[in-house]
Amino acid sequence: MISTVILPVAGLGTRFLPATKSVPKELLPVVDKPLLQYAVEEAWRAGIRHVVLVNSPKKAGLEAHLRPADPELVAELTAKGKQDLLDALLGAVPEGLKVTVVMQPQALGLGHAVWCAREAVAGEPGFAVMLVDDFIDDTTGPGCLADMVALQARTGAWSLAVEEVPREHTNRYGVVSLAGERITAMVEKPAPEVAPSNLAVVGRYVLPAAVMTALDHVKPGAGGEIQLTDGIAAVLADEQVQAHRFAGVRYDCGSKFGYAQANIALALRDPALAAPLRAWLPEVL
Ligand code: G1P
Repeated sequence: MISTVILPVAGLGTRFLPATKSVPKELLPVVDKPLLQYAVEEAWRAGIRHVVLVNSPKKAGLEAHLRPADPELVAELTAKGKQDLLDALLGAVPEGLKVTVVMQPQALGLGHAVWCAREAVAGEPGFAVMLVDDFIDDTTGPGCLADMVALQARTGAWSLAVEEVPREHTNRYGVVSLAGERITAMVEKPAPEVAPSNLAVVGRYVLPAAVMTALDHVKPGAGGEIQLTDGIAAVLADEQVQAHRFAGVRYDCGSKFGYAQANIALALRDPALAAPLRAWLPEVL
């Protein structure tokens, strides 16, 4: 059973400057909830009770969001009878969630970030990784990670979430080769001419412990960074790792366009916003 998720959150978030000058990009809201919180909720629905934040010393706000609520604010909202706000505040972190924070002293790549969490998952058969800015909106079930964790519990297969992307975008992703649904090879950010397929990995991974051991030896790869893709590729001959074609829609909230899409899509489903937004949209369009 997978009980721990690693959230690599030490990245600089420069694409969203100046918003991210002092606010971590993972705390940017989609409608009214930070991206970090959507990820934690998706992990919780997957049965995961331990979150490991791989953070940078400059992004302390992320840890603050996962700490218990300020007692003074709780007392004030209680005294004023503001139950809905109290629920929003207390619901920000599921009760019973264990949070471990480890530091990634230097941004040496996603593989390095995951490797920084090795002690927090030592002794476990495997672990999950979520990239918080890959926001997967699944209204059909408990969510992408829950489906992947359930697959592992049911069949023993590890998995990576994948989706088809336009061939000219393969150089933005890890790209997989498949035999059936089994991943036989993967390569980080291949040029379209050499990409083995147009099936790209998006930010959900359920991985065997062997990947952590492989990361001990992975050398800098694409972009001069230590790549998680290379750590996974090293175990594919020995471990059954599947491509998981997930339900729902993935918004790339690391890009302004994807972030705008996520906000519009969720606002159009928000009971308080949907009607006025629908009425106003034709006007602005
Ligand atoms: C990372 C991974 C890449 C994956 C992508 C998904 O890349 O290295 O394999 O396809 O996330 O969003 P990054 O977006 O950090 O460059």
